[in-house]
Amino acid sequence: MTAQGAQRQVFIRTYGCQMNVYDSDRMADLLLRLGYALAPSPEQADLVVLNTCHIREHASEKVYSELGRLRDIKVERRSTGGDLTIAVAGCVAQAEGGEIAKRQPAVDILVGPQAYHRLPQLLAEAERRAAIRKAGKRLPGAGVLDTEFPVESKFDHLPAPHGVRAGSAFLSIQEGCDKFCTFCVVPYTRGAEYSRPVAPVLAEARQLVAAGAIEITLLGQNVNAYHGEADDGSAWSLARLIRALAEIDGLARLRYTTSHPRDVGDDLIAVHGEVPVLMPYLHLPVQSGSDRILEAMNRRHGRDLFRRLADRLREVRPDMALSSDFIVGFPGERDADFDDTMRLIEEVCLASAFSFKYSRRPGTPGWAMADQVPENVKAARLAAMQALLGRQAHNFNLSKVGETVPVLYAEAGRRPGQIVGKTPWLQSVYAEGLGRMVGQIVETRLVEGHANSLAGEIALQPERAREAAA
Ligand code: 5AD
Ligand code: SF4
Repeated sequence: MTAQGAQRQVFIRTYGCQMNVYDSDRMADLLLRLGYALAPSPEQADLVVLNTCHIREHASEKVYSELGRLRDIKVERRSTGGDLTIAVAGCVAQAEGGEIAKRQPAVDILVGPQAYHRLPQLLAEAERRAAIRKAGKRLPGAGVLDTEFPVESKFDHLPAPHGVRAGSAFLSIQEGCDKFCTFCVVPYTRGAEYSRPVAPVLAEARQLVAAGAIEITLLGQNVNAYHGEADDGSAWSLARLIRALAEIDGLARLRYTTSHPRDVGDDLIAVHGEVPVLMPYLHLPVQSGSDRILEAMNRRHGRDLFRRLADRLREVRPDMALSSDFIVGFPGERDADFDDTMRLIEEVCLASAFSFKYSRRPGTPGWAMADQVPENVKAARLAAMQALLGRQAHNFNLSKVGETVPVLYAEAGRRPGQIVGKTPWLQSVYAEGLGRMVGQIVETRLVEGHANSLAGEIALQPERAREAAA
């Protein structure tokens, strides 16, 4: 803990998706402005923020075990006259609200994903309560809670973004979801679909590039449903936004995630063929390859749409790499449905994918569905699916061996002299390189393909190599 009068320190732990990574960065921006510094661990912090994920049961449970550890730190601190402020942010805070403070009374602040711009006020309120507690008085209620979906947008109340890491930055352009897939908590935790207007998105992108970003990943739960309002009152699609962003000088790579098959319009497909800075990689969750299960999931598309989209994207961009999400063991899934999903994966061929056992989430329609699939069946299906997806990912990596490709190096590797980066198709590459190449795009020859990565050799022209070494 910091000494009296020293700068206060905050530790932020992020669970779950890239939207949470973005939100954590923005909370850090807010707290830095309040005079906090970033602490390397909870033990050194005065304030710990857990930015939580509610998507599967396992994700929520991890939060409670971490809260138990933080409670111990807090109790120890208080025994010596100090304190630790504990804030729970994100989707668990939104979904479970005051229940969290009941289950773990050490929690001081609960703040939902649309309300964290109010953290400064919530902290001030928590401080007031701490002062009352220290004075030995009783506190009304438990914790400080803000899980409203406020009418004002948090984006209008956040400071300019700070977070460009090694040339790469996230930019949140859309939030929430109105699709109500029957397994998913997102419409309840993140609220209704909302697109940020065009002007602040373009301004934030320019700021990020000025701050050193050469790659921007546009984020949204349903990012390709984007329909942001432009200054002239018209609504821009994601495709139109991408075309405008591609004009920014110095921006070398654009990505977007996560998309829904139903919102892949003709204009988005076209943009993949026409805008070189848009990377040839698309994460397009399909969840299942069985029309019967897709219907029960309320996906409102069939297996064929996914196949057609894959074909059309590869027509305009032959090297397009596709990735997806799958859920096995959704209620009512029979062997024949699972086989349909496996066939779809074989037909489309994926560069990477995430696959999960169905997790029953309170408050979603799937929770109450009859015909829940037994755990052992889910486990066997997941293992078979992951073996197939693993083979496809490995083959995809092998297919690039021998090519020289631009790699954006993101960090130092574990071995001395090693750097790690990403290809345009989002594969990880390990190479012997110079630390100063981190944050840069460097031509790299891919020499070995593994299950989850490739080995590369920096392939600079001799004069460029001399310059880089200088
Ligand atoms: N159980 C298992 N996986 C889920 N996902 C979302 N909700 C659930 C759930 N209840 C998966 C979906 C989604 C990804 C982010 O998480 O595949 O695309
Ligand atoms: Fe969840 Fe479906 Fe919305 Fe994706 S589209 S966030 S899976 S409800």
